[in-house]
Amino acid sequence: MPFKVAAPMPQTLSISLAANLPDPVAAIVLYANGDGAMGPVAADIWKRTGLDFARIAKATGFAGRPGHMIDIPAPSGMSCDRLLLLGRGADGEGENDAAWADRGGSLFAKLDAAAVSSAAIVLDEPGLTPALVGALGAGAQLRAYRFEKYNTRRKSKTVHPSALTFVLAKPDAMKSAVDHALAVAGGTNLARDLVSEPANLLGPSDMADVANTLADLGVTVEVLDEEQMGALGMGAMLAVGQGSVRPPRMVVMQWNGGEKGQTPTAFVGKGIVFDTGGISIKPAASMENMKGDMGGAAAVLGLMQALATRKAKVNAVGILALAENMPDANAYRPGDVVTAMSGETIEIISTDAEGRLVLADALWYCQDRFKPRAMFDIATLTGAIRIALGDDYAGVFTNTDSLAATLQQAGRASGEKVWHLPIGPAYDKLIESRFADIKNQGGRLGGASIAGQFLAHFVNDVPWAHVDIAGTGFGKASSETITSWATGFGVALFDRLIRDNYENGK
Ligand code: BES
Ligand code: MN
Ligand code: ZN
Repeated sequence: MPFKVAAPMPQTLSISLAANLPDPVAAIVLYANGDGAMGPVAADIWKRTGLDFARIAKATGFAGRPGHMIDIPAPSGMSCDRLLLLGRGADGEGENDAAWADRGGSLFAKLDAAAVSSAAIVLDEPGLTPALVGALGAGAQLRAYRFEKYNTRRKSKTVHPSALTFVLAKPDAMKSAVDHALAVAGGTNLARDLVSEPANLLGPSDMADVANTLADLGVTVEVLDEEQMGALGMGAMLAVGQGSVRPPRMVVMQWNGGEKGQTPTAFVGKGIVFDTGGISIKPAASMENMKGDMGGAAAVLGLMQALATRKAKVNAVGILALAENMPDANAYRPGDVVTAMSGETIEIISTDAEGRLVLADALWYCQDRFKPRAMFDIATLTGAIRIALGDDYAGVFTNTDSLAATLQQAGRASGEKVWHLPIGPAYDKLIESRFADIKNQGGRLGGASIAGQFLAHFVNDVPWAHVDIAGTGFGKASSETITSWATGFGVALFDRLIRDNYENGK
């Protein structure tokens, strides 16, 4: 029995905005710097405790840095159980969204550790913007994320904060930015769920079912089956899927929140629900991680949910190339020659270089049908990108250098960082084939660029960029906003890219 999802995914943490302190509330949070400087509302609340800030700060080592905390139980002059003073850093330091998302993550962690059920967070610092408040909420939502549905005995039993109220002067002026940020965090958490879901419970058609639930939000969803893909000539996509008893699917989603007839921006995700390597089978060690080889498709799905939830004023296309790469009597093999939808023939050298094959047909189909103004793909594509960049930066490869700069900017703002690496004709020599137009593997050196250059053959000169998330998609060391195995990388990056470059008539 595959798992069933409800759309949209329930949020574990509710975040609301208010002009006044809620009463009752389990905890009140104030931000202060090392000198005890607070905003006016916070300073007023602090004064009611009658406590000596300087003395407490000295005794506890509180220097007002992010992550520093003074925890006061049963404070006098107020009805809450806890008063928490959190460090806000020096003025002007870390004032971008990514820094405030980290602050939100840290906030949730402190409240969680203090085992309070609800908290009011006083936000009255100078320079506060709606976007920063949104980032704070999103960071908390991301830190609250757990994937424990199959840990029947180990579910966390402690009280987590289930409600946060941000207390600020003009809640109405903040609301739409906060809704936006929470929609994106919801998309990231959906992507995380899908990446963590095991392959026995999430096959290609199950993931298509999840995509179909976005119809409730106004997304148009089409699912192509093997027969339809065959009629379109998607020989590369079908070859990858033919070794699995669960046939491949291509999902086509459209969110039309922009002006009617506006050329769409397109996003394509690699969705290998499990990558055994196929006949070129992978070593057994860590193969279980390959349930996450649909991380690109999960990010595109999460992105579409976020765009629809926040009613983004953009026309966006999301395509998922879903297949399972299995060894089998019917599996494709090294030496096979397949014909992609573009008409180009591909000699298979390794059946483990399957991601570029499914993307070849998905990218060609996307540009052919939608003529997008720009096209982005996201994929757990190569082990080589992990060697090159580690797990903090995703790799970007493009036929249009300005797109790399744009993505890098979106990465800095969202905290999902990327780095530009080369593609180009130099890499073509490595994928020349004796028996076909091109081959799907070109040796170990420069493996991530070779894969990128392979993809470039299937974009037909549309402005395009490829994001390799084999390092960043899962298994990452934890951060203030990520404590789960799956990261959901790509949702926030692409949402920011859209917001800054393609939305609202841009
Ligand atoms: N899904 C893998 C890449 C991967 C590796 C993602 C580790 C996440 C973690 C991809 O399909 C693959 O197997 N790539 C091969 C390509 C090679 C055969 C040209 C690789 O990187 O070794
Ligand atoms: Mn592979
Ligand atoms: Zn793969």
